[in-house]
Amino acid sequence: MNDTLRTKLGVPFPLFAFSHCRDVIVAVSKAGGFGVLGAAGFSPDELETELTWIDQHIDGHPYGVDLLFPENMALAGEDPSRVTDLARGIPQQHRQFVADLLKTHGVDPGGEADAVRVSRPPSLLRAQGVALLDVAFRHPIKLIVNALGLPPKEMFEGARAKGVLVGALAGAREHALRHVEAGVDVIVAQGGEAGGHCGEVSTMVLIPEVVRAVRAVSDVPVLAAGGIMTGRQMAAAMVLGASGAWTGSVWLATTESETSEIFRDKMVKARSRDTVRSKGRTGKYSRQLKSAWTDAWEGPDSPGALPMPLQSMISEPALQKATAAAERGVAGGRELVTYFVGQGVGLVENVRSARAVVQDFREEFAEALGDLDTLAS
Ligand SMILES: Cc1cc2nc3c(=O)[nH]c(=O)nc-3n(C[C@H](O)[C@H](O)[C@H](O)COP(=O)(O)O)c2cc1C
Repeated sequence: MNDTLRTKLGVPFPLFAFSHCRDVIVAVSKAGGFGVLGAAGFSPDELETELTWIDQHIDGHPYGVDLLFPENMALAGEDPSRVTDLARGIPQQHRQFVADLLKTHGVDPGGEADAVRVSRPPSLLRAQGVALLDVAFRHPIKLIVNALGLPPKEMFEGARAKGVLVGALAGAREHALRHVEAGVDVIVAQGGEAGGHCGEVSTMVLIPEVVRAVRAVSDVPVLAAGGIMTGRQMAAAMVLGASGAWTGSVWLATTESETSEIFRDKMVKARSRDTVRSKGRTGKYSRQLKSAWTDAWEGPDSPGALPMPLQSMISEPALQKATAAAERGVAGGRELVTYFVGQGVGLVENVRSARAVVQDFREEFAEALGDLDTLAS
């Protein structure tokens, strides 16, 4: 295990928390872990507001930002101001499928105009991502992370100028080696159990495979991601050679999280088999909680997912309507509600504060090390 990362980032306990929620970032970093704000869904102005708030509340503790620059994505180079034109690329068949799915679940699909998210440019367009990067580098972040491909040159240049480390997610050994060759400072090896976009190799196999391959060519540290919900799993990942744990799903079941109460309730009830890796939300495979929405996109009548980012442009407004209807008590709306979450959802027993989650991780981690120590002595 390479332990230089803790020193470089100034983080006492190498538990990394990916979250879209600024309160989680602050709570985790203040409790000795490292919060990373998932920024891909924000506009540049919104990101500025979020990071300013974090700076005001985090008491100087370290934190990072995560962005998505998909390497393989239709329309990546489009001008963000052409978002209305992009929406025209969504076929009528897909619009109708979504409208019918909502209607059969008692959710009003609304008019044509609000069926597609055209209110803002998809943040995955390259120009929009670069605008978000500019905002991120105006704040005292310690780490910037990219997923869905190699970090772009703007990320490396900005990071080097500011003394910020660059991280990148990898779902396979080959991806990790490409990142190392490109100059990435931290690899996040993410197994197929993970919530959100993920590959197929399980964390248990991926971590030793990536650690061995990376160690053979460099001293770049590897963080383990995918399915890690407890301190014991974190210890296991570090025994496998990881320098820390990178987590996402566990923060969705916190009191601070951005998720709806309905989704949190579904998380508590769900078991590890209740997730699915589907293209039906973003157009690329991502792991989500199974629901009537994911069943429909995987079912025989599905028109098939559109390429990223078009699929998100029709799925996000529809799922927002489903959640709003569920909150008004519409049973069909509740059936549709879903969100990105990993197989570790089966380990969620209750909703806790983010601070309590970090404390539980620390206690369990120490217990696990104590158990191993007893065995070794
Ligand atoms: C709701 C949600 C959204 C995510 N969005 C992103 C993202 O925008 N960028 C990213 O690098 N990873 C994203 N991920 C993946 C996380 O960074 C992390 O690798 C993953 O959650 C780890 O697996 P776990 O969910 O089992 O803890 C997301 C995960 C979740 C649960």
